[in-house]
Amino acid sequence: MNARPVALITGGARRIGAAIAAHLHQQDWNLVIHYRRSGSDATTLAERLNQQRTNSAFTLQADLANMGELSVLAQAACAQWGQLNALINNASSFYPTPLSQASEQQWDDLFASNLKAPFFLSQQLSQALRASRGCIINIADIHAERPLKNHSIYCMAKAGNVMLTKTLARELAPEVRVNGIAPGAIAWPEDEAALSDSEQHSILNKIALERSGEPEDIARTVAFLLNDAPYITGQIIAVDGGRSLQQ
Ligand SMILES: NC(=O)c1ccc[n+]([C@@H]2O[C@H](COP(=O)([O-])OP(=O)(O)OC[C@H]3O[C@@H](n4cnc5c(N)ncnc54)[C@H](OP(=O)(O)O)[C@@H]3O)[C@@H](O)[C@H]2O)c1
Repeated sequence: MNARPVALITGGARRIGAAIAAHLHQQDWNLVIHYRRSGSDATTLAERLNQQRTNSAFTLQADLANMGELSVLAQAACAQWGQLNALINNASSFYPTPLSQASEQQWDDLFASNLKAPFFLSQQLSQALRASRGCIINIADIHAERPLKNHSIYCMAKAGNVMLTKTLARELAPEVRVNGIAPGAIAWPEDEAALSDSEQHSILNKIALERSGEPEDIARTVAFLLNDAPYITGQIIAVDGGRSLQQ
């Protein structure tokens, strides 16, 4: 087995995924950085990491809603260094789906990235992860438990993601630990999910620590679960500045 552990990070080109990649790389992990559309961000990130340490970061493209592409990704991720020590299911689509307008296409899209792909990547990588005594980390959301108005499909998919974490923790034990992280307000949503200033203020007002978090807060928690938590499995850690303390 390779001296350095290897992590596959889905949606690893930008924002929280890129912060996880950079942080694990600092801790001497090798990385398979998955992306879908953000090819230039992924390439730039991998080039930067490879300048710091040769042959330490590799990119792979796949639409995780496509099962064929998902399978190719799983196989290529294992083949790159001949081992896999962690699967970080970070990729996600997020946008409102008010009941009156929600479509089956939105259902399929939101469930694909937030629930179906984490399940089938776990299935396809379970043998490699058992062999390495590795970890799965699912990035969930505090809104898996606390409903976010007008986002029912996303919230249902993330609720499934939390149960996936718990059921796989039982099924893959004792070889593989499976944990989740539930971010609060970390990086404001973009595009069709973007929030107005007043919506952002209203969220910030409900956070005990009175500020949003940073992608590095999630990255540090990932590193803790991978490197320093050998007796933790089946848990979901909220990283939300105390947001979930409030009604
Ligand atoms: N941002 C927050 O404050 C926050 C709060 C709560 C929970 N979270 C969770 O934390 C994780 C990271 O959040 P984020 O805001 O950094 O995520 P994001 O920017 O919204 O999305 C991450 C990546 O997911 C990829 N993706 C989406 N659908 C995909 C598909 N069908 N196939 C392949 N890739 C797909 C996209 O890759 P490409 O760009 O390459 O297409 C995207 O860059 C997510 O699981 C999110 O639900 C975030």
